Amino acid sequence: MTKLENPNIIVRVATADDKHYGKTITDEMESSAKARGTGIAKRSPEYVQLKMEEGKAVIAVTDKGEWVGFCYIEAWGHEKFVANSGLIVNPAFRGHGVAKAIKHRVFELSREKYPDAKIFGLTTGLAVMKINSELGYEPVTYSELTDDDEFWKGCRSCVNFEVLMSKNRKNCLCTAMLYDPVEKAKEEAEKKEQMKKATLSIRTDTGAQPQPQVLVAATGEMKHNKKARKFKENFKLFERWLRFKRYVLLKGGKDGISGGSAPASKKKFFFLFNLF
Ligand SMILES: CC(C)(COP(=O)(O)OP(=O)(O)OC[C@H]1O[C@@H](n2cnc3c(N)ncnc32)[C@H](O)[C@@H]1OP(=O)(O)O)[C@@H](O)C(=O)NCCC(=O)NCCS
Repeated sequence: MTKLENPNIIVRVATADDKHYGKTITDEMESSAKARGTGIAKRSPEYVQLKMEEGKAVIAVTDKGEWVGFCYIEAWGHEKFVANSGLIVNPAFRGHGVAKAIKHRVFELSREKYPDAKIFGLTTGLAVMKINSELGYEPVTYSELTDDDEFWKGCRSCVNFEVLMSKNRKNCLCTAMLYDPVEKAKEEAEKKEQMKKATLSIRTDTGAQPQPQVLVAATGEMKHNKKARKFKENFKLFERWLRFKRYVLLKGGKDGISGGSAPASKKKFFFLFNLF
């Protein structure tokens, strides 16, 4: 159970006792998507309730029982992939770190339930990209996601489904982000190796035991922080990039910008889009 800075909000794994929140949650998902004017895969209250029963959802509520937020887990491609989907926060509680707390809890839950799976998400939301990046997700091309048709069928109810299909499922308005546990383990091993080397060189140079602050500076932890800062520094640029991508993708059908016969400059754009 996670407590936020607002002590009245509790973030926890949902259970069958939370099923009565199902309709409120799906209604909010739909009206929020309409308000944003963006696409979203529609979910039924029954589907959300099933996730609660299975223990594959995280819910935030107040101590008075008011619904605050929600997110759930789906496994794809024979459990090789896991998606954390349907993140939604009650508009009355936005801007207080609820989404962040829910995403962190659902990420932990995914790692507990599917320790070997790659965790991914598709989103147009900058807040989600920010949180994902903090959790260690990286932007990837769609080809690195699951090829499970059932997952992609979920996009059929999205207003941008035609765009996705016109790009042969290789690109769309959403940015794909992925957490690969194997890659992360490798990174961790490299960090440890670096730390070891740093410790050895410090010993050789000074003949003394390494100072704790020097060790901190030489560890991957520091490197990780730098990475997170870099993303934050570039956030405005990334935001502009997403607007540009949206502009070209939605305009693409009208202008016939779709690879094959497109001029070289336009092809270059599509090469860049595939990086996201
Ligand atoms: C997106 C949403 C989940 C964010 O919920 P929230 O509880 O207000 O988010 P948090 O307060 O935890 O904010 C997390 C981070 O995102 C940032 N953020 C929040 N909303 C943002 C926005 N609209 N644009 C850019 N950044 C945003 C916050 O500043 C914070 O960053 P920080 O840690 O650097 O300060 C909520 O607005 C929502 O439910 N929207 C409608 C549904 C939706 O878009 N879901 C995502 C589908 S993928």
